[in-house]
Amino acid sequence: MKKFIKTIAVLTSGGDAPGMNAAIRSVVRSASYYKLECVGVYRGFQGLIEGDFIKMTARDAHHLIQKGGTVLKTARSKEFRTIEGRKKAYKNLIKNKIDALVIIGGDGSFTGGMIFNKEFDFPVIGIPGTIDNDIFGTDYTIGYDTALNTAVEAIDKIRDTASSHNRLFFVEVMGRDAGFIALNAGIGAGAEEILIPEEDMGLERLLITLEKSRRSGKTSSLVVVAEGDKTGKNVFELASYVEENLPQYDVRVSILGHMQRGGAPSCFDRVLASRMGAKAVELLLDNKTNLMVGITNNKMKAVDLELAVKEHHKMSDEILRISEIMSV
Ligand code: F6P
Repeated sequence: MKKFIKTIAVLTSGGDAPGMNAAIRSVVRSASYYKLECVGVYRGFQGLIEGDFIKMTARDAHHLIQKGGTVLKTARSKEFRTIEGRKKAYKNLIKNKIDALVIIGGDGSFTGGMIFNKEFDFPVIGIPGTIDNDIFGTDYTIGYDTALNTAVEAIDKIRDTASSHNRLFFVEVMGRDAGFIALNAGIGAGAEEILIPEEDMGLERLLITLEKSRRSGKTSSLVVVAEGDKTGKNVFELASYVEENLPQYDVRVSILGHMQRGGAPSCFDRVLASRMGAKAVELLLDNKTNLMVGITNNKMKAVDLELAVKEHHKMSDEILRISEIMSV
């Protein structure tokens, strides 16, 4: 049966990402443009359970586009994983006459949204917001471009000191399960070797590459490592392993950490967030549900939430090849 949407709620969930505020702004402004009411939910699903809501008008979304983090805050709610928690959330939505929910987050948040939709037949649309870029059905997630540029800027600075001291640096970037930041920041910053969760290049190859680099006259080297790389060794263990096997190297480790999640969003992320927010509202107006907004070849699209959660965003073979060619 066709339901008429009058009020939309929006929340941010999971790890924050630059551009989430721009996405909130877009949902709020698009709602206003289409004469709908909009409610912001604080602290993701936990705020849904506790009824922590705030009415948001187009004017409340001012000066949000350039702000890092998320003004609605974010959380990983254990209670929402229980049916009791989800029932409380549903009751709060009904009590506040909310007809649909926009979830800005990653695959964990979408799984929660999907279960909620199935249990209560409540309209849900997902917007991919995570620095990891690991969501199937979209070329880009909100926050990835900014995080990538933050990482490259930091690695460039490490390159300066590595080169002054003739040192080898292992730089760890974020990406527990995905190597998009590592691979692209590694190529962008001219790393000698890149270790990612998707590929097991083996420790032997690392030694061979570094030895080759040294013999070819390189005086400093950078190895970019994703948090969840496949070698099974953490970045400090990797550094020790290389020190033991290639004692000629003076090795240091640098972990970029959560700085990659902060900062003002890039223009790319601001525009992407604006497009995705509007598309989410338009899908709801069209009576669509259980979908994620995505972008492929610069075209907006809608992807089944279940697919977005189940499938993997595959790394391009061409980019993998480029990283190998560039490290010669
Ligand atoms: O946002 C995704 C991510 O950055 C991963 O790459 C990382 O492993 C994880 O979040 C860490 O998040 P937290 O410290 O908030 O648990």
